[in-house]
Amino acid sequence: MTQILYTESQLKSVVAELAVAIAADASGRKLLLLGLLKGCQPFLADLCRELSRHQLSLAVDYLQVSSYVGTASSGQVMISGALPDTLCQGCDVLVVDDIFDTGHTLKRVVAHLRENGAESVKTCVLLRKKGSSRVVMEPDYCGAVIPDAFIVGYGLDYNEKYRELPYIKVLGEEEQN
Ligand code: IMP
Ligand code: MG
Repeated sequence: MTQILYTESQLKSVVAELAVAIAADASGRKLLLLGLLKGCQPFLADLCRELSRHQLSLAVDYLQVSSYVGTASSGQVMISGALPDTLCQGCDVLVVDDIFDTGHTLKRVVAHLRENGAESVKTCVLLRKKGSSRVVMEPDYCGAVIPDAFIVGYGLDYNEKYRELPYIKVLGEEEQN
């Protein structure tokens, strides 16, 4: 049976609230939204639209990052490709990811950005899993906390499937193959 965790309209509300919080903290410098591909895509697009209501100076770029194989984190975070040129030009960077699970991905990405000259780096995730963190780090912005289950939809995948769903659901056992 499909267990929907967040409907489309619930996701819209969560993203709108995140945009309000991010805008309230904005420094006045350009804000570079740095999305982690591929899972960030629908979330980042909706977050951009919500942030556009708040008159911020925004830029958007992406990093390709991966660590998951099936339903488990490999613990090895791979970052592919060059960092955006805009990184060191006096902007604030907000790393945007779909979900904070063990935390290895965000920790690794933030360290990588700082090593490469980024002065101001914050993190934003749509969701985090309760009790699953393996790092001493908290995302600066988090839309909601969910139970420690494997979820798909709204960008989140299981072996590249289900990213297209407009809602988020728990992956059923019969769907894992
Ligand atoms: P972390 O490094 O363990 O925090 O995992 C972060 C990454 O793992 C996220 O960017 C997701 O791509 C992926 N991930 C973690 N949990 C899930 C899940 O429940 N469904 C799909 N992808 C997940
Ligand atoms: Mg990801």
